[in-house]
Amino acid sequence: MAAAVSAAVSLPSSKSTSLHSRNSILSPERINFNKVPLYYKSVSFSGVKIRAQVTTEAPAKAEKVSKKQVEGVVVNKFRPKDPYIGRCLLNTKITGDDAPGETWHMVFSTEGEVPYREGQSIGVIPDGIDKNGKPHKLRLYSIASSALGDFGDSKTVSLCVKRLVYTNDQGEIVKGVCSNFLCDLKPGSEVKITGPVGKEMLMPKDPNATVIMLATGTGIAPFRSFLWKMFFEKYDDYKFNGLAWLFLGVPTSSSLLYKEEFEKMKEKAPENFRLDFAVSREQTNAKGEKMYIQTRMAEYAEELWELLKKDNTYVYMCGLRGMEKGIDEIIVPLAAKEGN
Ligand SMILES: Cc1cc2nc3c(=O)[nH]c(=O)nc-3n(C[C@H](O)[C@H](O)[C@H](O)COP(=O)(O)OP(=O)(O)OC[C@H]3O[C@@H](n4cnc5c(N)ncnc54)[C@H](O)[C@@H]3O)c2cc1C
Ligand SMILES: NC(=O)c1ccc[n+]([C@@H]2O[C@H](COP(=O)([O-])OP(=O)(O)OC[C@H]3O[C@@H](n4cnc5c(N)ncnc54)[C@H](OP(=O)(O)O)[C@@H]3O)[C@@H](O)[C@H]2O)c1
Repeated sequence: MAAAVSAAVSLPSSKSTSLHSRNSILSPERINFNKVPLYYKSVSFSGVKIRAQVTTEAPAKAEKVSKKQVEGVVVNKFRPKDPYIGRCLLNTKITGDDAPGETWHMVFSTEGEVPYREGQSIGVIPDGIDKNGKPHKLRLYSIASSALGDFGDSKTVSLCVKRLVYTNDQGEIVKGVCSNFLCDLKPGSEVKITGPVGKEMLMPKDPNATVIMLATGTGIAPFRSFLWKMFFEKYDDYKFNGLAWLFLGVPTSSSLLYKEEFEKMKEKAPENFRLDFAVSREQTNAKGEKMYIQTRMAEYAEELWELLKKDNTYVYMCGLRGMEKGIDEIIVPLAAKEGN
């Protein structure tokens, strides 16, 4: 299958570093891309059976699926004992200086050696040793780029990483090991990559599907990957003609991740893409309640329910575990009305 990237996207950034001063992404050349079969699994929202995938802080329990359905999707090519050594090509802060916390978008070279699909994750082993003198353990990160990668040459993988900093019970400031390692990576630095992993979040191959994506914070990563494939790339045998509906919840407007990219997608395909933000610390609903992602979804409850009833609707959720309950509370009463 031939594919081409037709997007020119600048990552919004107040701080940006790049090996080749590349934070404008443009790659119009045609390149080869292998088609793989994908699969979906069904989960239920408190009894309402819909095609969906939930992923939160811990890896979701995967149903056993037949090998046939996921044929061609590579997992664990690189294990912690022998990781792939990539290089940081670009690392850009994508949240504003006044945002609560920093999130960075980073691109690593893979030279095509880490073949991943939209919806998979990679492991990163941070440099250094832990308090017992042992090498640090890997942390998982959802891949934020499509399989073609941000430069369109299938030779890179991108992540969207929030820098973890918190105050412990003793009042000391603690920095998360791997997220700080990643957010501080300079272009040219080496990074140990494992995986890819995960077959639970793969995007639907049906180009006419309705794909509802529910993200909080860095939970946006796999959906950026889906949306690039749907709207910024061209394939001979895939043209998205369904409906993609993204709900993204963040604390402040300065922490809206990839906003400009998503707005460009909407301009390109207004009939096929819906975009709704929930900015929790700046917006409220009519009752004055904090605008969480489920609060925004509630505004479209009937419409969402109609979509959920369709056979080719897929719901994906990624981000804070807390959102699961809130979203359930929107869906369950709708289902109950119809006796489900
Ligand atoms: C499948 C999967 C995909 C993921 N994808 C992403 C992604 O795309 N982007 C992303 O940024 N993250 C993602 N994560 C989270 C990521 O794996 C790491 O857990 C995160 O970056 C923190 O790692 P760290 O090494 O910086 O922190 P660590 O050094 O491992 O510290 C984390 C520990 O600090 C403690 N802690 C954390 N916050 C507090 C607090 N407020 N108060 C007290 N103690 C606290 C907890 O014990 C926690 O386990 C994903 C996780 C999974 C499982
Ligand atoms: N594949 C995966 O499993 C995967 C991938 C990526 C990220 N993650 C995880 O996703 C999390 C994202 O955190 P982040 O720091 O990037 O996000 P963030 O920037 O803090 O944004 C999270 C948003 O969700 C809101 N929120 C808090 N509680 C909520 C609830 N109960 N229901 C709905 N919304 C709620 C927050 O509002 P307030 O802060 O105003 O309350 C904020 O607006 C991390 O824990 C990360 O590990 C997992």
